Amino acid sequence: MKVLLLVFTMVVAMAQDEFKSREDAAAAAATTLIQELGSALKTNMAAGGPEAAITVCRDIAPTIANDLSLKTGWKVTRVGTRVRNTMMGMPDEWEQIGLEYFSEEIDAGTALEDLSYTEVVTEGKQQYFRYMKPIVTQPLCLSCHGPSDVMSPAIQAMLDQHYPHDQATDYTVGELRGAVSIKQPLD
Ligand code: HEC
Repeated sequence: MKVLLLVFTMVVAMAQDEFKSREDAAAAAATTLIQELGSALKTNMAAGGPEAAITVCRDIAPTIANDLSLKTGWKVTRVGTRVRNTMMGMPDEWEQIGLEYFSEEIDAGTALEDLSYTEVVTEGKQQYFRYMKPIVTQPLCLSCHGPSDVMSPAIQAMLDQHYPHDQATDYTVGELRGAVSIKQPLD
């Protein structure tokens, strides 16, 4: 009985270690994506305004996410609570639950840095470690995700042209915009 208990405890302890190290690695990758995106946006906005910065959220964000995916072997993406690019930014069922959890916690006043959503899930025969970190609306996001009176006519025309089904407007500062989502296949 004692032996069994010992073995069981060890297995759980090891699993917890692995969980924690996977969680830390995923958090680091998500933070990299959010920070690199933020600084690219700031640089481009300063240089050429929102019209120049549009490529950052459109082209640079997926490039950084793809680079991270290649480097780590995980799927690294961005999803939105309301989506502009329905091909790329749509949350799946698991991500939807995570986004709802984040919204509730933000409304309840939980500090952003304390928020993440992590779970080991089984899909078919494959197990995955899944992780999400919230992306929150900042003042500089409003020129492309804010209410229409904040967005320039040039930006609105560009969005109408490229994203006819755009839902990602009318956000306010501090509101949950979406999340970085990371999916790691487990052996
Ligand atoms: C200059 C315009 C512009 C600015 C500023 C901007 N975005 Fe975006 N954003 C876009 C465009 C365009 C897309 C669609 C990208 C695509 O085609 O995948 C997008 C997509 C996104 C997505 C992916 C989900 C979706 O709706 O498709 C997230 C998340 C996002 N933006 C967050 C932010 C955040 C957070 C900020 C501020 C830090 C921000 N954006 C600032 C233009 C912008």
